[in-house]
Amino acid sequence: MAWGPQKRWTTNAKYSTFFGVEDTKKPSFSSNKSTVDETTVIAVKVFRFLNVFIVLVAIGVLVAQFWFNHGCIIRCDKYKYNEFPGFGKVSEFLHTYPLFSKMSQTDLETIASNLPLPQWTQTPQEILAEAKELIAKDKAFYDKIAAIEEPTVENVLIPSTEYENAQYFPVNKLTFYQYVSPDKAVRDASTEAENLLDQASIEQNSRVDVFKVYNKLWEKINGTDATDPETMKFLEKTVKFYKRNGLNLPEDKREEVKKLKLRRAELQTKFAKNTNEENGHLEFTLDELEGVPASIIEQFEKATVDGQEKYKVTFKYPDILPVLKYAKKESTRKLAYIENQNKVPENAAILKEIIELRYHLAKLLGYDTYSEFVLEERMAKNQQNVLDFLADLKEKLSPLGEQELQKMKAFKKEHLKANGLPDQDEYYAWDHSFYNNLLLEQEHQVDHQKISEYFPLDKTISNMLGFYESLFDVKFVKVDNSKSDTVWHPDVHKFALFSNIKYGEPKNEFRGWIFFDLHPREGKYTHAAQFGLQAGYEKPDGTRETPFAALVCNFTKPKKDKPSLLKHDEVTTFFHELGHGVHSLLSRTKHTRFHGTHVPRDFVECPSQMLEFWTWSPNELKVLSSHYKTGEPLADDLLDKLIKSKHVNTGLANLRQMHFALFDMKLHTIADEKDLDAVDLDKLWNELREELTFISNGGITSRGYATFGHIAGGYESGYYGYLYSQVFATDIYYTHFKADPMNVEKGLQYRDTILKNGGSKEVLDILKELLGREPNSEAFMKEILGEA
Ligand SMILES: *[C@@H]1O[C@H](CO)[C@@H](O)[C@H](O)[C@H]1NC(C)=O
Ligand SMILES: *[C@@H]1O[C@H](CO)[C@@H](O)[C@H](O)[C@H]1NC(C)=O
Ligand SMILES: [Zn+2]
Repeated sequence: MAWGPQKRWTTNAKYSTFFGVEDTKKPSFSSNKSTVDETTVIAVKVFRFLNVFIVLVAIGVLVAQFWFNHGCIIRCDKYKYNEFPGFGKVSEFLHTYPLFSKMSQTDLETIASNLPLPQWTQTPQEILAEAKELIAKDKAFYDKIAAIEEPTVENVLIPSTEYENAQYFPVNKLTFYQYVSPDKAVRDASTEAENLLDQASIEQNSRVDVFKVYNKLWEKINGTDATDPETMKFLEKTVKFYKRNGLNLPEDKREEVKKLKLRRAELQTKFAKNTNEENGHLEFTLDELEGVPASIIEQFEKATVDGQEKYKVTFKYPDILPVLKYAKKESTRKLAYIENQNKVPENAAILKEIIELRYHLAKLLGYDTYSEFVLEERMAKNQQNVLDFLADLKEKLSPLGEQELQKMKAFKKEHLKANGLPDQDEYYAWDHSFYNNLLLEQEHQVDHQKISEYFPLDKTISNMLGFYESLFDVKFVKVDNSKSDTVWHPDVHKFALFSNIKYGEPKNEFRGWIFFDLHPREGKYTHAAQFGLQAGYEKPDGTRETPFAALVCNFTKPKKDKPSLLKHDEVTTFFHELGHGVHSLLSRTKHTRFHGTHVPRDFVECPSQMLEFWTWSPNELKVLSSHYKTGEPLADDLLDKLIKSKHVNTGLANLRQMHFALFDMKLHTIADEKDLDAVDLDKLWNELREELTFISNGGITSRGYATFGHIAGGYESGYYGYLYSQVFATDIYYTHFKADPMNVEKGLQYRDTILKNGGSKEVLDILKELLGREPNSEAFMKEILGEA
């Protein structure tokens, strides 16, 4: 099916688009790319990144901010690192490492420098010519498949896997340039190539003649052992993909599906466009902005309104968030909050229609609800599982949330009194950002600037690589030779990854390349993401194709006299992205389609979320850190404050996520027309928020859902995934690593179940294999409650 099923872009990209009030990250992609889901026309858009798997900084940062605002307060007195020489002196710790390996560093360097590397030298003309060639090849391939009357494993299935595996990199390569090439013409050609490939892909993916061949084969061999399980899964997924596209329906129904999808795509695009192009603002006097730092006020445009000097505050995050966070006057915050929620009112009707279209689409395709349609492809499998999951969390989180709310109410009362303001019993939605921040400032005083001095970029990254090396028994070998055509820009560094350094056979096995493109430059992608450029697979001759991946980030470039210092959340982000990187490199599947990060979307963040725990573990933080002047590890008082700050209002923060997740589920689990007609978005949104977060709406109905890009396209019936994968990540961390985060035996066990299998097996099965039992939310709750 053309490039369909393996093209995926985790819409985590858009995690941030909705956090209008509290988050500081902007939407990661222009949202015309976000109007997507899995089927036909639109399928291609979700898949428009083709096989480039992108995971964005938003997740890392927000995970750090929202999910990990809790954690282990109890400090281990016992240093876990005494088994390594030179604890506290990071350089020794790292540099002694090669002693463990039989081969010296130089040997590996020599080997690495002779390994083949892809080249990045295509001209715009070549990019377009190659895209056209790939398209012609694709059509020819499927023409051949369609003509087969008696399909067998040998004449249909094996050739299909081989074809798809071989296409993986050529397609990714063409579409990757648009994010990183220093040459605008190359970037533009890359975007155009992607559009051409998308269009062609839509056509191939709607071919009933092709579907029939695969389906015939599936009906013949389903349930037999005609081929190995992974290849069987390939066929099953292929057939499923076409069916989900409506290809097994009679022609009139197919046409209807197509029409619904076209309309839905149109509306999704419109929703995103409206959000993006929103350009309203509020006007405040200096007095009304009391409390907002002068450096922020400086960035507001001034205007004279009715003879009064006012400041224009737009709804863009760098403007509106500081107002909600710092403005002392409640009336200012209230106005800012409500107007920000209501900034795109025209999207309300659009969302309503999208929900209706999805309902009808699901029914046409034979599903009870749209959620059932979405979830059958996810780890959660069905809506009951998701609803049960959320109900369980709600029950567990509510007491904590209520407790936190009482504390915040008292805190607010004190503050009002101290400022000579009238007392209030309520705690409003427009209060939370302000009082939460005040609490952090007054009681926690985390000095992020100071902490960043302990995380100079180069040193920290090499320390992080050291962690991954120890934990997974691998070695990153930097190869910076003069062959400039092996990188797309001179700033890019490349590392060969070897495994089995100390344990296992064969020793020093080459596992693939990872590229680091860390600094901003003109025209480059401006967030942090992992791009799985090539996935590993088994070649027809039995040897393996090795994968390679790129980490593309936006860290300030170090200057001669000033290193680039990473904030703690950036440290977490990089660790997170590197987690995706090793998932891409240490996986070992038969086919690209199931390799590494090609797992169900509600699981994809789990491995990286799990690894983020290392950046919150006191001992590990000490080893990671190294003051840029003195080389000292992170000072104890800073460390304490940082880790304690994780616990502030985590119940409320998680309940807020529950609000989003449940709202999403309510809209997509509608099973009959009557309920569909009755759905009242305003009511649902506002009532659910009060019910879940306990925070008062003050009797005001707002329309925050009208900017909720996730559910408009990309994360529909999927928002729960953020909580879901976090629960598994915490379970794994607590079960295997919390007591001893650098236990290599556990690291290897993790590497050889979760990372190795990618999506080739049922995720739940490999999780059970790793945990030795069913996963559960106990660790997650312990973590949140700080009971560990
Ligand atoms: C495959 O066959 C099994 C029975 O052997 C059946 O239960 C299952 O539904 C079939 N799968 C599909 C996707 O047709
Ligand atoms: C990326 O870095 C540039 C230059 O430092 C900065 O202006 C821009 O805001 C950064 N982008 C994001 C999304 O943080
Ligand atoms: Zn991620």
